[in-house]
Amino acid sequence: MKRILPLLILAALTFITVPSIMAQDAITKLAPEAFGKLTRPAAVFNHDKHNEKAKLEECVACHHGGADGKQDKSASTEGTPCAECHKVKPAGKATSLQRAYHKQCIDCHRAKGKGPVACGQCHKR
Ligand code: HEC
Ligand code: HEC
Ligand code: HEC
Ligand code: HEC
Repeated sequence: MKRILPLLILAALTFITVPSIMAQDAITKLAPEAFGKLTRPAAVFNHDKHNEKAKLEECVACHHGGADGKQDKSASTEGTPCAECHKVKPAGKATSLQRAYHKQCIDCHRAKGKGPVACGQCHKR
């Protein structure tokens, strides 16, 4: 029993901690490190719930690809952070990181006539 007990505790801990780690992984807010200290409260965005409710089955609707100033709406890049391609202070005419989020989120909400379009509805305290 003395040898088994630690194993039982370990097994129990695995069951308890694994789901809580997974829950932490689920996105509920957006606060990309690239911005440094945010000037607004992190935007609310419950990734999976949002996409289910909005019936967005195509990942590429948000996770597009592209390079050299050309967007590629056929290349799906889920898992790649927006900040990898959109800089906070881009050179030239490239879409900045803030504009990338605002344009993608707000344009769709406007187009569908659903979803928040006012600052405080996304940047919630
Ligand atoms: C409405 C837009 C939208 C749709 C649709 C969408 N995502 Fe995302 N997803 C995001 C945003 C925004 C992030 C955060 C990325 C960032 O800010 O850099 C993200 C992050 C992710 C991440 C990174 C998770 C992490 O913990 O960092 C994965 C993986 C992902 N999405 C997978 C998917 C898959 C798979 C689909 C399709 C079933 C999908 N997404 C559909 C917007 C979307
Ligand atoms: C693999 C690189 C890459 C990733 C990842 C990426 N983009 Fe882009 N995106 C581009 C390129 C290239 C363009 C076209 C040049 C530009 O506007 O800077 C573009 C253009 C845009 C535009 C302007 C064109 C339009 O659709 O109106 C928006 C908005 C945008 N991206 C939002 C996002 C968001 C939000 C994310 C993360 C969920 C994201 N992008 C992830 C490469 C990328
Ligand atoms: C391609 C379309 C599309 C894009 C892109 C999109 N949304 Fe939405 N969003 C919707 C729709 C549709 C709803 C309304 C869902 C409903 O209630 O039926 C919604 C609802 C919401 C809501 C209300 C609460 C909820 O989860 O239902 C929030 C908050 C939200 N969106 C945030 C965002 C943010 C932040 C982004 C950008 C990272 C984003 N959305 C990008 C379509 C989109
Ligand atoms: C549809 C949701 C949505 C709306 C509406 C919206 N934003 Fe944002 N905003 C975002 C997302 C997503 C980001 C990137 C993640 C973050 O910073 O939380 C962002 C980033 C920002 C940033 C850069 C990061 C920071 O905090 O310094 C500023 C500034 C900002 N928004 C201001 C505004 C203002 C002002 C308005 C109203 C005119 C507004 N936003 C409306 C979703 C939204």
